Amino acid sequence: MRAHEAGALHGDIGHREPAWLRPPVDVNALVPQLWPRAVARGVDGALTVAGLGVADLAAEYGTPVYVLDEDDLRSRARDFRDAFPDVDVYYAGKAFLCRAVIRMIAEEGLHLDVCTGGELATALSAGMPAERIGFHGNNKSVAELTRALDAGVGRIILDSFTEIDRLTALARERKVRPGVLVRVTVGVEAHTHEFIATAHEDQKFGFSLAGGAAAAAAFKVIDEGVLDLRGLHSHIGSQIFDTSGFEVSARRILALQAQIRDARGVELPELDLGGGFGIAYTTQDDPAAPQELGKRLRKIIDSECAAENLAVPHLSIEPGRAIVGPAVFTLYEVGTVKNVDGLRTYVSVDGGMSDNIRTALYDASYSATVANRASTAEPLLARVVGKHCEAGDIVVKDEFLPADVQPGDLVAVPGTGAYCRSMASNYNHVPRPPVVAVRDGSARLIVRRETEEDLLALDVG
Ligand SMILES: Cc1ncc(COP(=O)(O)O)c(C=O)c1O
Repeated sequence: MRAHEAGALHGDIGHREPAWLRPPVDVNALVPQLWPRAVARGVDGALTVAGLGVADLAAEYGTPVYVLDEDDLRSRARDFRDAFPDVDVYYAGKAFLCRAVIRMIAEEGLHLDVCTGGELATALSAGMPAERIGFHGNNKSVAELTRALDAGVGRIILDSFTEIDRLTALARERKVRPGVLVRVTVGVEAHTHEFIATAHEDQKFGFSLAGGAAAAAAFKVIDEGVLDLRGLHSHIGSQIFDTSGFEVSARRILALQAQIRDARGVELPELDLGGGFGIAYTTQDDPAAPQELGKRLRKIIDSECAAENLAVPHLSIEPGRAIVGPAVFTLYEVGTVKNVDGLRTYVSVDGGMSDNIRTALYDASYSATVANRASTAEPLLARVVGKHCEAGDIVVKDEFLPADVQPGDLVAVPGTGAYCRSMASNYNHVPRPPVVAVRDGSARLIVRRETEEDLLALDVG
């Protein structure tokens, strides 16, 4: 199905809802875990966020628009910070990065992960202290590494032997000793409640544990003595609800930590467990609270360190999605409603795969509601699609919307804070939507809408 030429989901014919999706008793009801905390239905039945009506937001900022509940994002950042005491929480900027959000997470005491020169430039321009920035990436250029060194970023996560050589040469020239971690591929692939533990690791990131590259990389850095090897790093996947994958990964990476100690007499002081903590996109998802995750991960590390007779290293984690994902919903306007041969009802909105590629790319599931009013109509199984020239341009594969959904209605899709605006494109020359932060009854634009002039400004031929 994924290989279908017309789009990932085009071959998926049928009008039945998936087994997990039940017709709602009240089609207007909001499932609390799917929505930013400040979202509610007002007395007129329309959605409000921190007291502001969605129709007013749409009138002022246009649609589509990403609406960020600032207090929600801040409280999720604090939840992680509080649930992981003595752990450095790096917000993974790839999930969504702009200056206002960087300031929010910095004010809440978080660190920041970046993985390109562009993300680094954004972080620095927002005033993020360089020592609180970690720099990832499997192909950092010499220019990017130079910039990171000159800025004094707190740590660089090494991903290849080529990079070790590059960074060592740059550090020698500059007579600096940057902090580094070695990214280890531990042979654990975790998504939702499932994980696979393999002996080999066929992917572009990191140094293979099973093949011996991870140990060789750590020995090389220690033996050359130019870079300051702070510890090991592993990231095992995304949208993870279960900690069993972390357990296997911790066991494997701490065995390497013990091997390094035994071979070189060095106990590395830090360990990064990566990100990937899951969120609720639909009622099928039931993520653990950060408090629970914090306890479970601490227990795993304590017992695996005891088994290897290692001191517990200073830990860090890198949640992205779990901080920004649930804090945002996308507000669209419906343009057409089409019933196709009694097979399926297509509700077309004014955005699509250019503002949310996750449905097409990952076969992701989302939820939606009609946002500008409450309805007394029966629930109708619908598919929310975009306006792009692509049959796989689907935003929400299956959702019950009121049967009277019509052009001009506003549709809100929750859980779009992570990997939506950050992966947005200009496909079909559609300008990318703005991001509006709402707090205490007022809204402010934090990323403006792209314009056709912006698009044409790049077209210099
Ligand atoms: C190294 C690393 N850390 C953290 C993350 C963040 O993952 P998530 O947003 O799912 O928490 C990613 C995501 O790809 C990653 O590659």
